[in-house]
Amino acid sequence: MARIIGGIGTTHVPAIGKAIADGKQNDPYWTPFFSGFHAVHKWLAREKPDVAVVFSNDHGLNFFLDKLPTFAVGAAHEYRNEDEGWGIPVSATAKGDAALSWHLIEGLVGDGFDITMCQEMLVDHAVTIPLNLMWPDGNWPQIVPVSINTVQHPLPSMARCFELGRSVGRALMTYPKDLKVVVIGTGGLSHQLDGKRAGFINRDFDTLCMDQLTSDPESLTRYTIPHLVELAGAQGVEFLNWMAMRGALPGTVSELHRNYHIPISNTAAATLVLENRPRAQRKAA
Ligand SMILES: [Fe+2]
Repeated sequence: MARIIGGIGTTHVPAIGKAIADGKQNDPYWTPFFSGFHAVHKWLAREKPDVAVVFSNDHGLNFFLDKLPTFAVGAAHEYRNEDEGWGIPVSATAKGDAALSWHLIEGLVGDGFDITMCQEMLVDHAVTIPLNLMWPDGNWPQIVPVSINTVQHPLPSMARCFELGRSVGRALMTYPKDLKVVVIGTGGLSHQLDGKRAGFINRDFDTLCMDQLTSDPESLTRYTIPHLVELAGAQGVEFLNWMAMRGALPGTVSELHRNYHIPISNTAAATLVLENRPRAQRKAA
């Protein structure tokens, strides 16, 4: 049976990829952000996950405004990165676990999620930057990418993304192969790139979201998408990927590590590690 070791939430802004390429991890601007990954590296080195399920949003590399699935799941043996602009060098190709992808797809469709299945899928900075941050030696685990529409309204709700994650978590728990799985949600936290509120950041709301994500994630489903845009910014809705990540942790969840730094490229940069332990079996009366 697959074992879900925990979840990681991280920002994915393109400027991080450029900083990695230019070796700026120890520059004063970047140190508060990159130093927040030392604890992540330690945890991953100890746990050694075989597979990462990555919830993120596509930024126009696979899907554009003309055709944009609400949820899309990769079912490929590999996922190439292509030049997406922003001055980020093209990243390595990520290996996929297609068998696990199909198992998750079966589970999701069985649970009523009408997803798009992608036997070919590119990955953009929303996947490659987190992988490069978490495994800087390039020794990435296999991945199953799950794309959530956070771009073209109407967006799926917080509750729907949480349920999507729960469905993935249930499917992982019934996968017969003995695998260690880490679940990743990327993007956010609060930021807005355009319009009158460009540069908008909301530390209080970000803190509340990270606190509640651990202890009471369902309470966050009370926020509608318009609320989320208002409180987190137009692009802060990428928090939907974090909600899906949290939904996929079915056990007892505790916060192992958190880093929060303002600003990185006009965004609130956050890193959160959640440990997932199997719930203790209740003793028979
Ligand atoms: Fe993004």
